[in-house]
Amino acid sequence: MNPQHSYPDHFFRSVLEGNDAALPLRIEEQLRKLYPGNAILACESLDLEDYVALGLASSEVSESPTPALSYFWGGLDHDALYPSYSQVLWNVNWQEHRMQVLQVSWQTSCGGQTKYWVMAQEPTIAEAFMLDVHRKTNDPGESILVFKDGHWERSKEMFELVHSSRMSELVLPPERRKSMIDDFKRFLASQDQYLALGVSWRRGAILLGPPGNGKTHFLRALVQELEVPCLYVQSLDHNYYRSEQLLQRVFERARELRPCVLIFEDLDALIDHSNRSFFLNQLDGFERNHGLIVIATTNHPENIDTAIMDRPSRFDRKYEFPLPDSSQRARFLEIWKDKLHTQGGLKGDWDGSNISKIAQATEGFSFAYMKELIVSSLLIWIHQESQNSRRCDFGQLLEDQTRVLQEQRSSVG
Ligand SMILES: Nc1ncnc2c1ncn2[C@@H]1O[C@H](COP(=O)(O)OP(=O)(O)OP(=O)(O)O)[C@@H](O)[C@H]1O
Ligand SMILES: [Mg+2]
Repeated sequence: MNPQHSYPDHFFRSVLEGNDAALPLRIEEQLRKLYPGNAILACESLDLEDYVALGLASSEVSESPTPALSYFWGGLDHDALYPSYSQVLWNVNWQEHRMQVLQVSWQTSCGGQTKYWVMAQEPTIAEAFMLDVHRKTNDPGESILVFKDGHWERSKEMFELVHSSRMSELVLPPERRKSMIDDFKRFLASQDQYLALGVSWRRGAILLGPPGNGKTHFLRALVQELEVPCLYVQSLDHNYYRSEQLLQRVFERARELRPCVLIFEDLDALIDHSNRSFFLNQLDGFERNHGLIVIATTNHPENIDTAIMDRPSRFDRKYEFPLPDSSQRARFLEIWKDKLHTQGGLKGDWDGSNISKIAQATEGFSFAYMKELIVSSLLIWIHQESQNSRRCDFGQLLEDQTRVLQEQRSSVG
């Protein structure tokens, strides 16, 4: 296909003018004039950039018609500017074919909308291309799909975080840990039984509890054990699309990947009165949610609607992650003592004899606070070690830091 179709420079402006329901029709009329005899196929989603990033095609932005481009910053983790197009024409090389893909976004009274048109020499080529883009970009592969800024992204970092989270590092009564994991494993293994009973093969759970007591850690380790695709909703904010539209995208993608786990971390911050009934409607779909495990976390269950919290068919189970008691805090310190002896070179500096004393003195600490106790003591120990030739008493440091953190906690709360 000849990529030099002469679009008028004001092409995007002219089709967007009026911005009414006939906009896609106006675009198609123009495209038929520009590509006589070629195939033109439209679709609502096409993750061309992701497909190109996978090395399955190459693409370049056509300078004509002039694209509408804005940049966004990738944040401190991805400290660079990334281009984001709202109107653009791509020249695409795929296998031995040359094609063009037009992407147009516009605002409707119901929110933002984006549509794609693929122009190829033959309908069979356009169809095969579209199908391959959908299939390949839908496969999470060795990554976790993360929903933010209005779209799904593959995250290798999240995948690595999940795969470095150990269930064995969590202090949890063994029978509780086993019953939670077995619940999901049994569910995944029982599709036929659910079908035979005419019961919807779907599962929902909420993990509740005060901050820093293992909800996220447990969830990551669970995802690793379940070995099905994982989709993680980080935010439902966008200045173009309404959160209902975003939720629709979230559930659509999850349904394409079933069986899978769909995670809403901090559900109370994601769902509010504006998207609540849409969310309930999505959770309730019998057929549509076949094979879907939906897991939410919250430390503010009181802010979540009872229609979400208290209807078993939506979130069937509630798992509590409370503050640890003194025996759990002692167990946590034991685990760290072993870790510091084997990995941290602390052997002679802490025999662990004051573990139960520290466990008593840390009443009210979350596991995250217990971890802070270890880390802040370790920082002081490393500093003192580098200053003195004399060995420091790490056990004493822990006791001192316990007092500091207790004071900090009481002055804050
Ligand atoms: N039961 C536990 N045993 C050992 N370590 C734990 C446990 N619970 C939490 N931790 C550690 O405490 C830190 C905080 O845990 P996590 O992020 O899972 O808490 P959370 O419940 O998700 O908190 P939030 O509600 O603030 O999101 C992590 O470093 C985690 O490894
Ligand atoms: Mg968490």
